[in-house]
Amino acid sequence: MSKFSKERRFSLHGQWSSHLAFILAVSGSAVGLGNIWKFPYIAGVNGGGAFVLVYLVCVFVIGLPIMMSEILMGRRGRRNPVATMALLGQEEGGTSRWGIVGVVGVATGFFILSYYSVIAGWAVAYIFEGASGAFKGADAQQVEQLFSRISGNWFITGFWHTAFMALTIFVVARGVKGGLERAVRILMPALIGLLLLLLIYSMIAGDFARGFAFLFEPKFSELTGSGVLEALGHAFFTLSVGMGAVMAYGAYLPAESSIGKTSIAVVVADTLIAIVAGLVIFPIVFANGLDPAAGPGLIFQSLPLAFGQLPGGSFVAAVFFLLLSFAAWTSAISLMEPAVAWLMERQKLLRSVAAIVIGGLIWLLGFLTVFSNSVLSGFTFFQGTFFDNIDFVASNIALPVGGLAIVVFAGWFMSSSSTSEELDPDAGLGYQLWRFSARFIAPVAVVCIFLNAVGVF
Ligand code: TRP
Repeated sequence: MSKFSKERRFSLHGQWSSHLAFILAVSGSAVGLGNIWKFPYIAGVNGGGAFVLVYLVCVFVIGLPIMMSEILMGRRGRRNPVATMALLGQEEGGTSRWGIVGVVGVATGFFILSYYSVIAGWAVAYIFEGASGAFKGADAQQVEQLFSRISGNWFITGFWHTAFMALTIFVVARGVKGGLERAVRILMPALIGLLLLLLIYSMIAGDFARGFAFLFEPKFSELTGSGVLEALGHAFFTLSVGMGAVMAYGAYLPAESSIGKTSIAVVVADTLIAIVAGLVIFPIVFANGLDPAAGPGLIFQSLPLAFGQLPGGSFVAAVFFLLLSFAAWTSAISLMEPAVAWLMERQKLLRSVAAIVIGGLIWLLGFLTVFSNSVLSGFTFFQGTFFDNIDFVASNIALPVGGLAIVVFAGWFMSSSSTSEELDPDAGLGYQLWRFSARFIAPVAVVCIFLNAVGVF
């Protein structure tokens, strides 16, 4: 528990109304397109089972201790991630230069949100496609055509990207605590309920045995060094760690909440949702002869087939994509919050002004992704299109590097008296486990995966 002067007991941005509100906010951040759109598509591209196994190990062995580190540092600093890193760096590490880690994190969130918003825009467009009955009785080919008609049209995707960014700016401008709590409390259970309904559909109408085997039978021959790096990057992405989003939320956490229990709950829930999404999608993919390695369009080309056959499918489809858009929204808010809190504190701006400035720049940058799927789709370099490159550098490099810096700071630079004070209710074995992972397991694993990906071993 922080035993600081009054000023450090609360953040200048206020505090969550309850411990539950914090859990909801962090899970709202974690659960999003990463679970339902990105996980199935990259698992498909990387051959399934072996990739999934590495991803699961990364989530629990690396992601969980980093999430705990971010929350405890956020609560101890009670500022935006840049200022928190600088302050704790001064107090514990002897130099405020640690603030750089926060700056890189702010920039990473900025880049991720630029494409995240475009994909979220596809989900919003699909609410209307679903409601209008476009999926009814459609076959695989028609569903694929529909997807390319939308993703390949820069005006339509640009329009929904704009709408989605406007909604995100709106919430961040009002302060993330008000609306967010209520939204997550209702919508998250609804999303889970609908996913379970779709799971039943997949078990009955899909090729469930094959989908299950694809996800859980590891074929290590399919896994490359860059696949392992992608699994690591996705572990960070799906848990929202490595750039300070969770640190920013931790700054608003009441002093008495248990950080360990909260983190475990969020990590388990996030993982289960991703796995269920995979179990929904791959049976549909195999039953309809689709390509599991189809790429970013995978859920948009497979789920509509299920909706097209379900009774009341148009309605179910609209509700599903609505809930997915909400899940993306609560994540997008957390991607923007660190940058906004930082700009606001640094330049003494109103929250609304900071949100509009940051959000406007992200919106502009998003057009690189909009065009990546349409007019610039033929323009590729390094990893592929602009979208592929921004995603690769942000998820697979910037998040793991940021996470590494955070966990090394918490494990090696912060005194054990500070960290044990924050993790207080979890003292004992839990604390020892966290500290061992933070000092040794997580950093060594991240470094090994990087060395492996560049071909050192
Ligand atoms: N975790 C979210 C998802 O899976 C995305 C996200 C929100 C995120 N905040 C983040 C990713 C911070 C990286 C860093 O959809």
